[in-house]
Amino acid sequence: MLKLSLADLTDTRRFAVAFAAMLRNGDVVLLDGEMGAGKTTTTKLIAEAIGVVDDVTSPTYTLVHTYSGGRLTLHHADLYRLKSTAEIDDLGLEEMLSAGGVLLIEWGAPAGELFPAHVFVSLSIDDETGRTVTLGSRSEIWASRLEQLEADLQDLVV
Ligand SMILES: Nc1ncnc2c1ncn2[C@@H]1O[C@H](COP(=O)(O)OP(=O)(O)OP(=O)(O)O)[C@@H](O)[C@H]1O
Ligand SMILES: [Mg+2]
Repeated sequence: MLKLSLADLTDTRRFAVAFAAMLRNGDVVLLDGEMGAGKTTTTKLIAEAIGVVDDVTSPTYTLVHTYSGGRLTLHHADLYRLKSTAEIDDLGLEEMLSAGGVLLIEWGAPAGELFPAHVFVSLSIDDETGRTVTLGSRSEIWASRLEQLEADLQDLVV
């Protein structure tokens, strides 16, 4: 696991830019953390770094938004309103992903089994502007990438 201390939005942006640079087609990112921890903010910064030009808004009601126009297509989902894990299947996330792009899911933990190669990104609130982000993956495809991220963001490592 990799733990980074983000003192403010500038650090969150640095993290998002470095993380976005590692993303490849077919990746699944599960974002978690309490309300207001910064899941949507981080998603917006990742989208910006990928080159998405459209405004990224919270998909709380529609559950999933797709943004093209960047280096990669970004599918942004939010499972906060999910009532049962069976509903995940109805969203067609796997089909969406197999058509191309990266899938980023807020409140994504319930989708963990469906996407075993996911990387999790968990945010927690330290103070008004401070956040701690913890990243990890069981997948081999993320091992070297997380090492690279650690090297890129050495001064933020806890
Ligand atoms: N270092 C930081 N990183 C991210 N967000 C920060 C930071 N400092 C302050 N904030 C603020 O915290 C808020 C995070 O809200 P955001 O909507 O991104 O959270 P969320 O985790 O998506 O919440 P929800 O569970 O309601 O979807 C924003 O207002 C953002 O500006
Ligand atoms: Mg959100």
